[in-house]
Amino acid sequence: MEKLLSIIPIWIHVLSMAGSFGATVLCAVLCRLTPAEMENQNNSIWSIPQMLLGATLLTGLALVYLRFTAAMHAGSPLSGHFWGIVGSKVILLLSAGGFLGIASNKAKTGNNMAAFRSWVAAAINLSLAAFIGLSL
Ligand code: HEM
Repeated sequence: MEKLLSIIPIWIHVLSMAGSFGATVLCAVLCRLTPAEMENQNNSIWSIPQMLLGATLLTGLALVYLRFTAAMHAGSPLSGHFWGIVGSKVILLLSAGGFLGIASNKAKTGNNMAAFRSWVAAAINLSLAAFIGLSL
């Protein structure tokens, strides 16, 4: 039962980060559609990657708390490697969030080419964070 409880936050973390990556790629593809098709799009979809990224950050912070308390109970502090990886992930997440914000603004104002570039930059940041996330 305890094992299951500890898996749930990791599961939400990985699902929301994969969802954010998928939604980012989808937005990049959608904003390349012709203007006529774009008019049928609801502008709120451009914010979906950011919402999922917010869930990734919150569950990430919860995971750090869980790892920290478990390490304290076991009497073995977390390694420098752990804090290095977590710090890099926070930086990558914040820069991905910045790119996502720029991209959704550009898409809402019809500057689709600039939006596309920002979504690609955000997707690259997210994939780097996922890569280093696996080494924790
Ligand atoms: C774009 C951002 C992020 C991505 C793509 C990402 C991805 C991942 C992946 C793929 C794992 C591996 C799960 C596993 O192997 O069990 C993971 C685990 C983890 N992530 Fe993230 N993450 C991100 C942001 C964050 C942030 C901002 C934090 C902390 C503030 C964080 C904290 C953690 C922790 C502590 C684990 C280890 C869980 C465990 O094994 O106990 N992540 N993340």
